[in-house]
Amino acid sequence: MTRKPRIGILGTGTMALALGKSLLAAGHFVAFGSRRAESKNDFHEAVGTESRIYGYQAAIEDAGEIVIITLPYKEVAATARKLGDSLRNKIVIDITNPFTAQPNNGDSGAQVTASIIGDDALVIAAFKTNFAATFENPIDSTGEPREVHYAGDDEEAMKAVKQLIRGIGFKPVDCGTLAQAVVLDHMVPLMIRLDATELDAQHLSSFRITLG
Ligand SMILES: NC(=O)c1ccc[n+]([C@@H]2O[C@H](COP(=O)([O-])OP(=O)(O)OC[C@H]3O[C@@H](n4cnc5c(N)ncnc54)[C@H](OP(=O)(O)O)[C@@H]3O)[C@@H](O)[C@H]2O)c1
Repeated sequence: MTRKPRIGILGTGTMALALGKSLLAAGHFVAFGSRRAESKNDFHEAVGTESRIYGYQAAIEDAGEIVIITLPYKEVAATARKLGDSLRNKIVIDITNPFTAQPNNGDSGAQVTASIIGDDALVIAAFKTNFAATFENPIDSTGEPREVHYAGDDEEAMKAVKQLIRGIGFKPVDCGTLAQAVVLDHMVPLMIRLDATELDAQHLSSFRITLG
């Protein structure tokens, strides 16, 4: 069996817990980065104590190939600026949703992240359109795997993220380039609205694109 990529996850919130549990269950090593690693015992218990919790920098260094940013969008630019040197040449999965801070020049949030990390950035937008609560059950009410929409400019990085998505039980849907990921940014407020109006805000909805 081929070795699963080692993953770093920046942040220890709701999405870090959901993604972390799924990735650990799928056999990845996961290192979490936290502003206060020493106070995260409850998170460590909840996610799985075979993981590691460090500061952000150490988690990136221990990560190996792939780093997932699960911070509030407003924190991403400063964090990418501070840690840019370490993030270069890693695959960086940006799951963050800009909402009201959406760039007003038409760029996607993930493009901003990539421009800060620099020329060698391998940033992929993914998981933006997946509620944390759905990771417990990637199979939806129709019996099919839920979709994860992902987008990026580097072919190898896209392949690696596709495998990661499939490995945790979801259906990867290639949504184009990092510029095109702006569509994903805009799908999220729609998803939240529909989940609220149609499903009493249970956060168990997901998009399905039916082709043909
Ligand atoms: N919740 C969802 O269903 C969902 C779905 C798709 C995408 N997203 C996106 O994923 C990102 C994370 O969402 P989340 O729901 O996991 O958020 P969350 O529970 O608030 O977690 C965010 C984490 O970021 C870290 N952080 C760093 N600076 C922070 C600050 N100034 N304020 C608060 N936290 C800070 C914290 O970890 P440390 O204290 O350990 O540093 C915190 O646990 C967001 O950008 C969101 O839009 C969320």
